[in-house]
Amino acid sequence: MRDLHALISALPKAELHLHLEGSLEPEMMFELARRNGVELKYANVDEIRAAYDFSNLQDFLDLYYQGMGVLLKEQDFYDLTVAYLAKAAADNVKHVEVFFDPQAHMERGVAFKTVLSGIRRALEDGFIRHNISYRLIMCVLRHLSEEDALALMEVATPYLDKINGIGLDSSELGHPPSKFKRVYEKAGLLGLKRVAHAGEEGPPEYVWEALNDLKIDRMDHGNASVRDETLVDHLVETGMTLTMCPLSNQRLCVTPDLRDNPLAKLLRAGVRVTVNSDDPSYFGGYVNDNYLAIAEALELTAPEIVMLARNSFIGSFLPDTDKEMYLDEIDVVDAELLGKG
Ligand code: ADE
Ligand code: ZN
Repeated sequence: MRDLHALISALPKAELHLHLEGSLEPEMMFELARRNGVELKYANVDEIRAAYDFSNLQDFLDLYYQGMGVLLKEQDFYDLTVAYLAKAAADNVKHVEVFFDPQAHMERGVAFKTVLSGIRRALEDGFIRHNISYRLIMCVLRHLSEEDALALMEVATPYLDKINGIGLDSSELGHPPSKFKRVYEKAGLLGLKRVAHAGEEGPPEYVWEALNDLKIDRMDHGNASVRDETLVDHLVETGMTLTMCPLSNQRLCVTPDLRDNPLAKLLRAGVRVTVNSDDPSYFGGYVNDNYLAIAEALELTAPEIVMLARNSFIGSFLPDTDKEMYLDEIDVVDAELLGKG
């Protein structure tokens, strides 16, 4: 297993599915609660970690929205993002495309601009400090209404030079992608990249809707695709990227046993699959932990692991020249560690 670990660590990677608010570690939650005078219902960090025992997505979301209640000031969003980027750098991540949930902050009275400027300042500093490039994706909370999403678009419009894409997250069941067709049409007209969570807990029909109604450029999770052969063929033919999150799937009981995760089946069918951490503080692992866990559980080969890292750049929103540079770097590691070249 040491070799697998060495390969995963050495590979340059992009992380394409990461909720910044889901990287809030209990230690920082405590520190921000103290700094901002917010009362937590936990006495210590161990109690917080003990509460992270989820039966499904909603169980997690309830704690996730509660946990982010300590984020109030621009500096809080800055500190959160800085901490994530340090973890990403340690995992040899070279490029990140991160999500944030503005509606979850605005409904607590935190201004959109406060959230955005803290995150952006940290991303800019992270590029200088760690040479990690970035894209920022603003998520719409799907349990809220279409009107709320359209209102968010209005608020965000003056800041569109600082936002690269639109995403769709939160409670999936009962909130199909088609609910946000008009929002995504608008986002497309505004030049935003379009991604959406689909097929995490929801059925293959939701994946089809994300593709056909929302016209997404990339799919978040997409696990349910494996249950529809025509859909798998379609994903392969169209070169759609899936941002899969194995430890998240395990902890949210989507596939409680990692050996049942559809990642290998999809990868071997030719789908452009990537590995990501989703909400690492809540699910017990950053990106390398996810690579290692799924590689061991599904007995992925070294070339398959290399393929996952390659897919992370190919499926990113980087320009082709940057993609090629990172793919060349992967080739060097491949040649050195696997004796190819
Ligand atoms: N928000 C944060 N993490 C999420 C996930 N895994 N699914 C849906 N919404 C989320
Ligand atoms: Zn997610």
